Amino acid sequence: MSGDVSMDAIVSLCKRRGFVFQSSEIYGGTGSCWDYGPLGVELKNNVKRAWWRDNVHLRPDLVGLDASILMHASVWKASGHVDHFSDPMVDCKACQRRFRADAPDEIPWTHYCPATKGNRFEIPPGEPCRHCGARRTLCPACGKGELTAPRQFNLMFKTFMGPVEDEAAVTYLRPETAQGIFVNFDNVLQAMRLKLPFGIAQIGKAFRNEITPGNFIFRTREFEQMEIEFFVNPLDTLDGRPADEVWHERWIQERFAWYGRYGIRPEHLRLRTHEKGELAHYAKGTSDVEYRFPIGWSELEGIANRTDFDLKQHARWSGRSLTYYDEERKTHVVPYVIEPSAGADRSVLAFLVDAYREEEVRGEKRVLLRFHRDLAPVKVAVLPLLKKRPEIVRVAGEIRGRLARRWVATYDDTAAIGRLYRRQDEVGTPFCVTVDVQTVGDADKGEAGDGKVTIRERDSMEQIRVPITELETVFGALFDGAEWSAVAARYPAARS
Ligand code: GAP
Repeated sequence: MSGDVSMDAIVSLCKRRGFVFQSSEIYGGTGSCWDYGPLGVELKNNVKRAWWRDNVHLRPDLVGLDASILMHASVWKASGHVDHFSDPMVDCKACQRRFRADAPDEIPWTHYCPATKGNRFEIPPGEPCRHCGARRTLCPACGKGELTAPRQFNLMFKTFMGPVEDEAAVTYLRPETAQGIFVNFDNVLQAMRLKLPFGIAQIGKAFRNEITPGNFIFRTREFEQMEIEFFVNPLDTLDGRPADEVWHERWIQERFAWYGRYGIRPEHLRLRTHEKGELAHYAKGTSDVEYRFPIGWSELEGIANRTDFDLKQHARWSGRSLTYYDEERKTHVVPYVIEPSAGADRSVLAFLVDAYREEEVRGEKRVLLRFHRDLAPVKVAVLPLLKKRPEIVRVAGEIRGRLARRWVATYDDTAAIGRLYRRQDEVGTPFCVTVDVQTVGDADKGEAGDGKVTIRERDSMEQIRVPITELETVFGALFDGAEWSAVAARYPAARS
């Protein structure tokens, strides 16, 4: 429904072109886990790299961390996840299907209509039957069973640490990366001699036994988070206001702007402030960056003010002091925490959906992914105009090899040039380099090559003729952010 592209079109393109595959597909798939293929892993790595560079490398006040997934079981008691990290669920008494309590009214429902001799209908979510006027009361899947009253279902995956599977060995796959940061607060503070305010960033896997996973990589049981815990002195003020509140606003603006910087259209992004009643048990305030996914407006990232909840809880449960010594005021304080928490997989989905375009070019449909150059899985495709000419193939191979030392570069000679361009458009490759007869010359006719190749730009489809010796300089400028039009103006146009 995003106005542009359906989820089915994205899922199909992702499978066809090697971005994302259903996990364990040859066994029928899991429905809640997905595998990133050759192009998907490049895209996801680029999203994570951009996030890490912008937050950890470019900011003077952030450092990185990579904590383990398995942690001491007490972490999850202290954090509140054992007691509070649950969703209400209901079961069908007939087919035993399980739903999140709010899900039955949000999915189409099956109805055996008494006004039409019991005919079976599939009715849109929340609507009554057109024939008998009944509303859903039974299981939406089988249409026959009553649903149980809601019960709380903890979303953490339980496992055992060590060879003995008893209560003492129980631990959990982490449901968020954040806790690895909190328990390392003092280690990082001491090792790096940091001064407040500062942040610790982490990218890593998280696991949630979601009752209703779905919508492709939007909600899965295994996913990756990109989280920052930004620690602020609770005694500080900025412009006369508590520093944590000012930093919360700054991070909301910063994270909102980040998605636009990498190409998400402004009309597809919005901010939503949580109502008091929907705040997590640890939060004083939360705002979500929402994206207009094909399933409607949904959370892409949450930016919460977690106060001093987590550090105080871990100090209490571990018996270790998790404070910061404020030298000016000669006192120990427990920092407040601002937490921008993004999903890597959800970001990949948003970047894919937003990049998708269908255009008509000379009476034919052209599908393209207009990825930001930093995110595109393949940066340059080197294509031979004629694969039967060994000299053309040799030069194209050499160029690919040279470019591949700095950028992801691919070679393809499996179709005619027009089709090769379309294939690269469809996976979002920003530039193609074509080697032709003019480049290498024709020895049989005694004609020397001009040593120039054609560069074609994805979005405009403009083509320029550039000496092979200048390719690295040209791509260096383009991947450093130079406008195509500025670079193209320096070279003659090539015939398309
Ligand atoms: N530490 C705070 C925290 O985990 P959250 O809102 O539960 O907050 C943060 O998760 C982000 O992680 C979400 O905005 C979303 O992008 C991503 N995320 C959460 N659950 C997910 C799931 N089941 N599948 C994919 N991404 C998920």
